[in-house]
Amino acid sequence: MALTFEVAGGGPLRGRLRVPGDKSISHRSIMLGAVAEGVSEVSGFLEGEDTLATLRAFQSMGVSIERPGVGCVAIHGVGLHGLQPPKEPLDLGNSGTSMRLMAGLLAGQAFDTVLVGDASLSTRPMRRVIDPLIRMGAVIDATATGTAPLRVRGGQTLCAIDYHLPVASAQVKSAVLLAGLYAHGRTIVTEPAATRDHTERMLAGFGYTVERERARVGITGGGRLRATCVDVPADLSSAAFFLVGATITPGSDLLLEHVGINPTRTGVLNILDAMGADIQVMSERTIGGEPVADLRVRYAPLHGIAIPPQWVPLAIDEFPAIFVAAACAEGETTLTGAAELRVKESDRIQVMADGLRTLGVAATPTTDGMVIRGGAMGDGEVDSHGDHRIAMAFAMAALRTQGGVRILDCANVNTSFPCFAVLASGVGLSITER
Ligand code: S3P
Repeated sequence: MALTFEVAGGGPLRGRLRVPGDKSISHRSIMLGAVAEGVSEVSGFLEGEDTLATLRAFQSMGVSIERPGVGCVAIHGVGLHGLQPPKEPLDLGNSGTSMRLMAGLLAGQAFDTVLVGDASLSTRPMRRVIDPLIRMGAVIDATATGTAPLRVRGGQTLCAIDYHLPVASAQVKSAVLLAGLYAHGRTIVTEPAATRDHTERMLAGFGYTVERERARVGITGGGRLRATCVDVPADLSSAAFFLVGATITPGSDLLLEHVGINPTRTGVLNILDAMGADIQVMSERTIGGEPVADLRVRYAPLHGIAIPPQWVPLAIDEFPAIFVAAACAEGETTLTGAAELRVKESDRIQVMADGLRTLGVAATPTTDGMVIRGGAMGDGEVDSHGDHRIAMAFAMAALRTQGGVRILDCANVNTSFPCFAVLASGVGLSITER
């Protein structure tokens, strides 16, 4: 179903809100809970289409999963060798995290599986996970261009590898580590730059030993996972839209509650801080092995910066929102070293540049980033190309316009942020869904 957002100009954003649960942690809670021994209880689970695709995939492999209340999930783990062959291909919708992590986990099973996705997921690069998994002994077929559908052949003997990631990708790291649970020996992954470490933290929470030595993570196959409770914090990637929205809109003062601030995710806080934003990190605490805080954000004038490349993997999902901040900043913002943005749910460099230019912003895409000269934001109609984060970023851009922004193709906002329009309206965004 086509969905359009019509967002009126002006703000401010005020009040408090808790955005939905962290997508990365929610996916992992289902995957690890399913292959643990015992019943794992998850609270704060993101009930978005992506994470529900993961949930359904494990149900169709024989895992009993109850949903006793909003954000509550009970997973009856079947142990590392208890999954059953699914009757049909596993449909993972728009979710790259599901497909890449599950390719690793399923490589060690006794049965075959077929992983399929929607039009966007079917164009995304999968060789990055297939190549290391094949080196471990997995047998995985893909299309000639290395895309889904993937057929993961069961009954293989996996062996540990010592793998240097060619791209800074938490999904690839996680796929190899999850296959490592089934491999003979000690699997080691070395990262070229720090990427999100939720898999490592959650494995430890499920009682599995993970060794970490600077950029190297190691795991030895043949152990077991013990069921546990997972409290999923609010997703910093979803909070990021409100951090930007409040920062760019005079009079704004928002409190975002219980947000995950894992240091492998906080690039957006570093970048906005360097641009002059006023974000206070309050009541820091650790919940279930993950750092959490409340974030208070108030309007502040921004200035452009050259974004340090080492922050790029730590903010990889937040660039659509950061580009909007840059468009409202004084001077030039330059991003380099972010070619990965071209292979996300859409080509986020091109799609954001196109949309910003439609609104009159001087945005110049480069092969691996963008140069944005801040200035006035005009009204207009932009196309999100079915990319949830592009849709929400432009919803925030509308705050700085006179006459508002119409955003096309927004249905996929439900993949990561169900009820976005309702929550955003509650703090002052004038948004209508058509
Ligand atoms: C994710 C890792 C990132 C991120 C994605 C979620 C994860 O992808 O963009 O939204 O949960 O591991 P890459 O690992 O491909 O950078």
